[in-house]
Amino acid sequence: MLSGQPTVRVDQVSESTNCPTTTLIQGRNHFELARYGFNIVLISRNQSKLDGVKQEILRKTPNVEVLTILFDFTNTNLADYEEKIFKQLNRLDVGVLVNNVGKYVEYPNRFDKIAGGIKTWTDITLINTLPVTLLTFEVLKQMIPRNAGIVINISSSSSYHHIRYWSVYSATKKFVSHFTHVLSKEFNNTGIVFQVAYIFALPGLMADFFMDKINLITRKRAIRRNQKVAIKKDSN
Ligand SMILES: NC(=O)c1ccc[n+]([C@@H]2O[C@H](COP(=O)([O-])OP(=O)(O)OC[C@H]3O[C@@H](n4cnc5c(N)ncnc54)[C@H](OP(=O)(O)O)[C@@H]3O)[C@@H](O)[C@H]2O)c1
Repeated sequence: MLSGQPTVRVDQVSESTNCPTTTLIQGRNHFELARYGFNIVLISRNQSKLDGVKQEILRKTPNVEVLTILFDFTNTNLADYEEKIFKQLNRLDVGVLVNNVGKYVEYPNRFDKIAGGIKTWTDITLINTLPVTLLTFEVLKQMIPRNAGIVINISSSSSYHHIRYWSVYSATKKFVSHFTHVLSKEFNNTGIVFQVAYIFALPGLMADFFMDKINLITRKRAIRRNQKVAIKKDSN
């Protein structure tokens, strides 16, 4: 939560901010909001995954409406944003925007040695910074006249630390938190609330990746410790 702004709980959103309850989410994290009766718009790049998630939401919360929009956020073409996303949004009353989409490094390495080279850094930079900027800009066009709305931007605990091998990823997450803090100041005297979430580990691909690494490191340390003990015993 940003300083100077009221705390808004998800179950109080529509009452406390006079917001309509349509929520726009990049990615597929949505069940909690649907449970509170929000209609959901999901934007992601894989239609069969989106369809699967939509069915799952409707099965758990049959009273909400779910719209899916297929879009690949490596696409930087503003005309495509306009045609595929903004036109649909302008027909809806969006009360909450969750900027969740994020790409991480699959095999962290020194900046110059990253797998996939410059294409990896291009994708991470674009996916983690451009959609949050453009969708926030577009949705504010509705929120400003209404003087109500919530924008939740997903950052990462990595934005706090100078972690070796996570250079571009952690820098893009710093972008997300910095951007959110500045907007929060700019809209301080309005009914629009900006929140940034600093995620450490969520169930998902990224968390699986981190846990695999941590398990691997722990196993290697245990093996080294056992080897040292065995060598010591031999020498005694
Ligand atoms: N998981 C963690 O432990 C963790 C830690 C710190 C921060 N975070 C942040 O939390 C957010 C969500 O992370 P997550 O672990 O839930 O990630 P995830 O499981 O990989 O989900 C990210 C979502 O973004 C979508 N996406 C990825 N690339 C896309 C593209 N080019 N175009 C359109 N959609 C795209 C994915 O679509 P598909 O379904 O098609 O893959 C997926 O729905 C991210 O911003 C991440 O940086 C996560």
